[in-house]
Amino acid sequence: KGKRAFIAGIADDNGYGWAIAKSLAAAGAEILVGTWVPALNIFETSLRRGKFDDSRVLPDGSLMEITKVYPLDAVFDTLDDVPEDIKTNKRYAGLSKWTVQEVAESVKQDFGNIDILVHSLANGPEVSKSLLETSRKGYLAAISASSYSYVSLLKHFIPIMNPGGSSISLSYIAAERIIPGYGGGMSSAKAALESDTKVLAFEAGRKHKIRVNAISAGPLGSRAAKAIGFIDTMIEYSIANAPLQNELSADEVGNTAAFLVSPLASAITGAVIYVDNGLNAMAVGI
Ligand code: NAI
Repeated sequence: KGKRAFIAGIADDNGYGWAIAKSLAAAGAEILVGTWVPALNIFETSLRRGKFDDSRVLPDGSLMEITKVYPLDAVFDTLDDVPEDIKTNKRYAGLSKWTVQEVAESVKQDFGNIDILVHSLANGPEVSKSLLETSRKGYLAAISASSYSYVSLLKHFIPIMNPGGSSISLSYIAAERIIPGYGGGMSSAKAALESDTKVLAFEAGRKHKIRVNAISAGPLGSRAAKAIGFIDTMIEYSIANAPLQNELSADEVGNTAAFLVSPLASAITGAVIYVDNGLNAMAVGI
C-alpha cells in the first residue's frame, strides 16, 4: 500500500518542498501539501493553469499529482492564537482552517492518517540584519516560523501518523558554523531546529515509533533564499570550494528525503544528514 505524505512549505516549483514532493511521488506516495495562506491563491492558480506541468514530470514520464492543497500558516497553532488584524486581512479572511491544529483536523477528516510529515518552511523577517542588529521581535518571529512551527506540526500530526512513520525538516549549516549574512536569528532558529530534531526523535520514537530527522541542505536559489540576497554568492562559493564541484540540485535533497522516510532508513532517527556536496567538511576554501 502506498504511503501518504503531508508536505508543509510549497508555494512554487523552485524550492526544496517541491523537489521532495516529486521524489516521494516517484516512490509511490500520495502527496498532500500545506501552502502558506498569502501564497495559496497564486500557487493553486498556477497549478490549475499548467504553469508547473513541465516540472511535474516524474522519471517514468507521468505527472506528479497533488491530491489536495491546504492553506496553512504555521505561526498559529489554534484559532485562538490568531490576532484580529490577521483574521480580517484580505488574504486570510477568505480562507478558513489554516492554523496547524485545524489543518491536522482537516487531513484527519479527509484521509484518516498519514505516514510522512515534511517541514520545508522558514521565515525570518529580519534575515538581512546581522544578529547584533536583530530586534527581539524579529528574533522571536524567526524562531516561531522556522523552529516552533516544526514542534507544532509534529505535535498536531503525530496522533494521525501511522506507527513506523517518519518526519523530516530542512536545516542549514548556519546552525553550527558562521555564515555571515544569514541573520535575523535565522542561524539561531536552525540551531534550535537541529537540537529539537534529537529531542523529538526520542519522544516520537518512544511514544509513537516515529522517526525524526533533518537534512542540512546546501544552497539553492529558491524564492525564500533569493529574499535573503546572498544566495548566488553561496552557490558560487560551494561550487568553488566543496569536494564535489557541482551546482546542488533540489532533486538531490528530494532523493535523500525519500530515502530518509523510507524503510531503507529504518534505524536512522535524530540525525542531521548533510546534502551539500560535502561543503560542511571543509575547514578553509581552496
Ligand atoms: P521556499 O521558498 O521554496 O520554501 C519556503 C516556504 O515557506 C515557502 O513556500 C513559504 O511560503 C513558506 N512559509 C513561510 N512562512 C510560512 C508560514 N508561517 N506558514 C507556512 N508556510 C510558510 O524556499 P526553500 O529554500 O526551499 O526553503 C525550504 C526549507 O529549506 C527552509 O526550511 C529553508 O530554511 C531550508 N533551506 C534552504 C536552503 C537554500 O539555500 N534555499 C539551504 C538550507 C536549508
